[in-house]
Amino acid sequence: MHAMKGIVRRRFGSPADALRLQEIDRPALEDDGVLIRVRAASIHIGDVYGVWGLPKAMRPVFRSMSAKNGVVGTDMAGTVEAVGSSVTDFRPGDEVFGTCKGAFAEHVSAKEDALAVQPANLSCEQAAAIGVSAFTALQALRNHGNLRAGQKVLITGASGGVGTFAVQIAKSLGADVTGVCSTRNIEMVRSIGADRVIDYTQQDYTCGGPEYDLVLDNIGNHSLKDARRALKTTGTLLPNGTPAPSGWFGGLGHPLKAGIVSVFVKQQGRPFLSTENKDDLATLNELAAKGEIIPVIDRTYPLDSAIEAISHVGEGHAQGTTVITVKESIGS
Ligand SMILES: NC(=O)c1ccc[n+]([C@@H]2O[C@H](COP(=O)([O-])OP(=O)(O)OC[C@H]3O[C@@H](n4cnc5c(N)ncnc54)[C@H](OP(=O)(O)O)[C@@H]3O)[C@@H](O)[C@H]2O)c1
Repeated sequence: MHAMKGIVRRRFGSPADALRLQEIDRPALEDDGVLIRVRAASIHIGDVYGVWGLPKAMRPVFRSMSAKNGVVGTDMAGTVEAVGSSVTDFRPGDEVFGTCKGAFAEHVSAKEDALAVQPANLSCEQAAAIGVSAFTALQALRNHGNLRAGQKVLITGASGGVGTFAVQIAKSLGADVTGVCSTRNIEMVRSIGADRVIDYTQQDYTCGGPEYDLVLDNIGNHSLKDARRALKTTGTLLPNGTPAPSGWFGGLGHPLKAGIVSVFVKQQGRPFLSTENKDDLATLNELAAKGEIIPVIDRTYPLDSAIEAISHVGEGHAQGTTVITVKESIGS
């Protein structure tokens, strides 16, 4: 077995307590697997919750999210080194991106269906950024929010991992987009296509009258009732954000309440869990190739500083997507 470096979760806790950069075995190549030399990986907020192990009730899920060797991380881009005997879509040398278990490492084994060839106009850091946050934004707006051309959508957390994709995808769907963010992010959110920006430090979007067909709430800091005040009578409030997770169930109350209220209140959308799938990866790939989504890279950190990078995302003030760059150091 060749060795490699990877970020291993040894217990749940703060990134500094829970994670170590360790030398471990490279993943084995399975018949339906693609072995990839990782060039860049990106961090989504779920990766951070999986390090914290919060809420505690989700720990079995978090355990199942890491690779067999204990490495964490989901989103990555890199070069195919070898393919399993049943793999037909990729061959060694292909530059690919997608999702897998154990992305924060020098090598990963991914499933064929979870990968696509990188669009030529993107750097591998940008390709790595098109991960869970992008799937979430696409599925929120198109599947759960049913957003159509000409409709008005308001997106809270427009400056974050999900929000920066949501603003761009909403524009690509032909919507009129209002982004909600803090003062320092106004220009960035405008630059990715928002028609209007509300600075939440100056203005409360729930007090502006019934204006929107869809509110995609990536923050969850207002009561559901207050947030629905921003909707036209036919509009939908789609809850996606939760207050920071804590204890056994902390953070689950808001989506749970939304689920119950949605049975009785037409404007209330149901919470959803995003899924990674081949068709949506193809859609995201196409949008990126056409320049309709250009990932906003917050900061990049080398693999040696990945623990710091994960702490940064956990502070909750990301500006787009935080990326880990990976240069092979062992056994190459
Ligand atoms: N449904 C799913 O399957 C799914 C998947 C992924 C994520 N999510 C959820 O989506 C939510 C957002 O995730 P994310 O990855 O985008 O988080 P993130 O990258 O941490 O971004 C949050 C952004 O919101 C901004 N912000 C903070 N307070 C705000 C406020 N009151 N109004 C507007 N913006 C505010 C932050 O910047 P400033 O603090 O500088 O303003 C930051 O840019 C999370 O709650 C996560 O659990 C759900």
